[in-house]
Amino acid sequence: MELKFQSPSGESATQARKTGGHDQQRRTMQGATTPRGRGARRRVWIAALISMVFLSVLGACIYPPTLLRVCPLFCGASVPPLQVLPPPPPRILSDQELSTRVLVKDILSLPANLTEMPKIAFMFLTPGPLPLVKLWEDFFRGHEGKFSVYVHASKLSTLKTAWKSPLFANHDIRSQKVDWGKISMVDAERRLITNALQDPDNQHFVLLSESCIPVRSFDFVYDYLLGSNVSFVDCFDDPGPHGRGRYTNPFLPEIRVEEWRKGSQWFTVKRQHALLLIADYVYYSKFKQICRSGAETHNCYPDEHYVQTFLHMIDPSGITNWSVTHVDWSEGKWHPKKYTREDVNIKLLKNIQAIDENVHVSSDLKKQLSRRPCMVNGERKPCYLFARKYLPETLNILLDVFPNITNT
Ligand SMILES: *[C@@H]1O[C@H](CO)[C@@H](O)[C@H](O)[C@H]1NC(C)=O
Ligand SMILES: *[C@@H]1O[C@H](CO)[C@@H](O)[C@H](O)[C@H]1NC(C)=O
Ligand SMILES: *[C@@H]1O[C@H](CO)[C@@H](O)[C@H](O)[C@H]1NC(C)=O
Ligand SMILES: *[C@@H]1O[C@H](CO)[C@@H](O)[C@H](O)[C@H]1NC(C)=O
Repeated sequence: MELKFQSPSGESATQARKTGGHDQQRRTMQGATTPRGRGARRRVWIAALISMVFLSVLGACIYPPTLLRVCPLFCGASVPPLQVLPPPPPRILSDQELSTRVLVKDILSLPANLTEMPKIAFMFLTPGPLPLVKLWEDFFRGHEGKFSVYVHASKLSTLKTAWKSPLFANHDIRSQKVDWGKISMVDAERRLITNALQDPDNQHFVLLSESCIPVRSFDFVYDYLLGSNVSFVDCFDDPGPHGRGRYTNPFLPEIRVEEWRKGSQWFTVKRQHALLLIADYVYYSKFKQICRSGAETHNCYPDEHYVQTFLHMIDPSGITNWSVTHVDWSEGKWHPKKYTREDVNIKLLKNIQAIDENVHVSSDLKKQLSRRPCMVNGERKPCYLFARKYLPETLNILLDVFPNITNT
């Protein structure tokens, strides 16, 4: 099963091993029946054959255009094979794919900031109450008219939540149950986006959890997000089991494995992308069908792949490939680091503010690390506006240090 998801070179390596095994078997069988002299001649033959193969591979490396299909397997990945291969024959698109493409083209060409006073929609996806509400109140205070708040409290769907904070009271949307790593997570994200899109002033949409905190002032966040015409979506091609390993063939023909992307769930999107995320039927329904519980292929974690793969496919240069929400995976566990009261201080938050390159690590044994500067429209920027995961016990310290880290 696993082999199916390996890179082309991995597959051929296995194949090579298999063929090698057959050869050996055949040789020993033959060795038992052939006389010595013929065995020696045979060895010369084999040596000649091996050197011919070696020479032709060498030739392929020196004159790559003719034999590029073979070359990368033997000569390392330095030669980009796809550039010279003829393009695959065009696929006949379904009606729905075609209509999605028309929508994509039109919506992406809409101008940014259609309204006089653009707002940022802050969308909280949480099981229940928000323990860090007081910090968010400090963050929002004095900026009324430039933001709106939406809360999807998935475990409180029957209870009209009595948020104590006036900022959050009556801002919860009709919610439904959410299961971690299931399509219901994407449904909740789309529900939040749909509600937030109803306000035409909302021009950028930020998805946050109950453990998220701001690490910048409101003005900084506002200028940062609205001043750029991109979405901040974490996205990379992970060859390992948590990336391509979650791809399965039923995603064909709409999504090919080379198009499959992985990234953190916590995105921010510009209005055009938000519209496309709720307009999309084709790709969303593939995820819904293939990742449903009970299906053999269910472990595809739509929340880490759907938005990432879809936006990568329709507008690769319109997403930054990193998320503005900082998280610490350095402990190497299944869940990221949870910050406690002892961890939080001015230095920690200033360090997060200072980061200006993002890192991706592949989930295979190679643990391949790639570092990229955080660039927006050709300009290097600090990467992070928000951070997670902060335990409720950190609230009082955060309230104390927040003015100190946002006064510059
Ligand atoms: C959008 O509007 C904001 C606030 O008026 C402004 O700062 C920003 O530069 C605009 N962004 C674009 C891409 O036009
Ligand atoms: C964003 O704006 C820059 C400069 O204004 C432009 O070069 C780039 O194509 C735009 N990108 C998108 C995705 O619209
Ligand atoms: C994001 O990565 C994709 C490849 O996965 C690339 O095509 C795109 O240009 C990158 N976006 C930016 C803004 O660099
Ligand atoms: C935080 O800022 C306040 C007021 O500006 C100042 O009195 C205090 O010393 C600062 N705290 C630290 C730890 O720098």
